Amino acid sequence: MTADFQRPLRLGMVGGGEGAYIGNIHRISARFDGAFQLVAGAFDADAARGHRFAATQGIDPARSYDDFKAMIAAENDREDRIDVVAICTPNHTHYPIAKAFLEAGYEVICEKPLTNTLEDAIALEQLVRETGRFMGVTYTYSGYPMVHEAREMVAAGKLGAIRVVQVEYPLEWMATAIEAAGNVQAAWRTDPKRSGRGGSVGDIGTHAYHLAGFVTGLKLEALTADLASFVEGRVLDDNAHVLLRYEGGARGLLWSSQVALGSSNGIRLRVFGEKGGLTWFQEQPNELIFSPLFGRTETIKRGADDLSEAAKVRTRTPPGHPEGYLEAFANLYRGFAEAIRARREGREATAIGLNVPTAYDGLKGVAFVDAVVDSAEAEGQPWLKPYAV
Ligand code: NAI
Repeated sequence: MTADFQRPLRLGMVGGGEGAYIGNIHRISARFDGAFQLVAGAFDADAARGHRFAATQGIDPARSYDDFKAMIAAENDREDRIDVVAICTPNHTHYPIAKAFLEAGYEVICEKPLTNTLEDAIALEQLVRETGRFMGVTYTYSGYPMVHEAREMVAAGKLGAIRVVQVEYPLEWMATAIEAAGNVQAAWRTDPKRSGRGGSVGDIGTHAYHLAGFVTGLKLEALTADLASFVEGRVLDDNAHVLLRYEGGARGLLWSSQVALGSSNGIRLRVFGEKGGLTWFQEQPNELIFSPLFGRTETIKRGADDLSEAAKVRTRTPPGHPEGYLEAFANLYRGFAEAIRARREGREATAIGLNVPTAYDGLKGVAFVDAVVDSAEAEGQPWLKPYAV
């Protein structure tokens, strides 16, 4: 018989039903390396739709639930209860769902932004520590091998002391009022009750903020922000410019936009130090551009023999075979599985389970959004220090 620790972790999902976006990416990622098996779910805000969807996914009808509360109650009574729940619902539901699963003893994988309010994010992060459960937050771009390589290069001092950080996440899909024309995803993203205080800054600025901090290791000291809502009738920002001052003197500029025509998920990070500069761009994710002081600019390719262990363990195919978004997301899932197993087995995690994004990173993202909105709303756009950073 297979020892218990070798079996795939049993995964439940909340949200991610028919027509939803990110739930499918979670399902693909969970299956990618065989570390998880999706066995249960409350897939939709509409229970009947959720049950219909569950049937298309091969879920035992007994484990397709009307809602997350029914899921917890029923799973609690099962010997083969789920180990982990993935929360793939709009932002305002993350807190109550994550809280309920943590309190019932489950491990959690949750979408970003972690919560709608800073207060809830603080409480959730505290609950994770109190319960001793694992909570991963899907900051997608920290799953890329070349992002890990960049991080290792900065940590090894190849760029010297960091001076300038430029990070941007421009999108074009919300350049018109598609929320008023029936687009479900845009509807909740533009509604403060469901999205939180941030528009573009909460939805994609949090990704950019995490990416910049992840690669540079820099801690934010203060920020000042300018938010705009270009599309008529929109109350949340669809464009954000944020100036960042990091501890130690480095300066940063973060741009998130939902109205940048011609841009589709073009998240890009540039880091400039005293000894070199680095660029990573999601549309060429297998490459890292490095320019050493007085040296030639080189393109570092995924799969090269001399890359760091952190990059190598996140690489599945030889150089030249493109890897991308799905592999990066799957790397997060593989990392979460390893982090959970290591904790359960009382050992150190192997490389894939290290530096995975957690509830603390989720809290930092919400604190960032909160400070950005406070700064933009205040007269004179003051420099503010975000909570917990
Ligand atoms: P969506 O609107 O496409 O899907 C949401 C799904 O959740 C729907 O199936 C809906 O019926 C279901 N749902 C809503 N309330 C529910 C409840 N109480 N119980 C059960 N199901 C419920 O939304 P999308 O675009 O997939 O975003 C979901 C979350 O993922 C958001 O927090 C968003 O910020 C995040 N996201 C993260 C990305 C990443 O790169 N990590 C990319 C896109 C979204």
